[in-house]
Amino acid sequence: MIIAVDGPAASGKGTIAKALARHFGLPHLDTGLLYRAVGLGVLRAGGDPASPDDALAACHFTDDMLDDTGLKSEAAAKAASQVSAYPEVRAALLQRQKDFAGQPGGAVLDGRDIGTVIAPHADAKLFVTASAEVRAERRHRELTGLGLTVHLEAVLHDIRARDERDSARSAAPLRKAEDAALLDTSDLGIDAAVQRALALVEARI
Ligand code: C5P
Repeated sequence: MIIAVDGPAASGKGTIAKALARHFGLPHLDTGLLYRAVGLGVLRAGGDPASPDDALAACHFTDDMLDDTGLKSEAAAKAASQVSAYPEVRAALLQRQKDFAGQPGGAVLDGRDIGTVIAPHADAKLFVTASAEVRAERRHRELTGLGLTVHLEAVLHDIRARDERDSARSAAPLRKAEDAALLDTSDLGIDAAVQRALALVEARI
């Protein structure tokens, strides 16, 4: 069974995908980490995330990079959304994601283009969203919880800029697959969002 979970930053898709994976006993891949690894790789090499050549050179990272705590930073997120616009970068990361989705027994993947590009034949697809304001508040709480001093307005600005870049790009833009169930988590706590997600998946399998 393959479950595809897509949506914008801080929509709750990662938490939901993890909970679904635990519930169904499936392996889970947060595909945003792959793009973050490329973005962070470019920054650490002193390159420019706006350069396709620098981005492509950073696509050959090893699995241990995916545990790097630097991937959680806003700098890595921003660089990820820049490098992810290049079709060459998406192509370089494609097979790894398809292999993960194709594991015997299935998998849960979350990202921006799982239901549309990586696993168009997924058994269940969810598109998880929430208002930009609610997502900014969540991300702000998360960052301040990590001890960082950040302003809510700045977080909201970054979220809007990332939404815009992810939705406007021509290579695999962020969009809901036609056959995906829409889950708006704006007014839902974590437990309620997970319960709704579970019900939506169960109605589809
Ligand atoms: O999900 P996360 O916020 O970690 O993703 C970071 C960035 O990576 C996104 O803003 C997006 O530009 C890119 N991404 C993507 N396709 C995916 C997952 C993430 O383009 N499947």
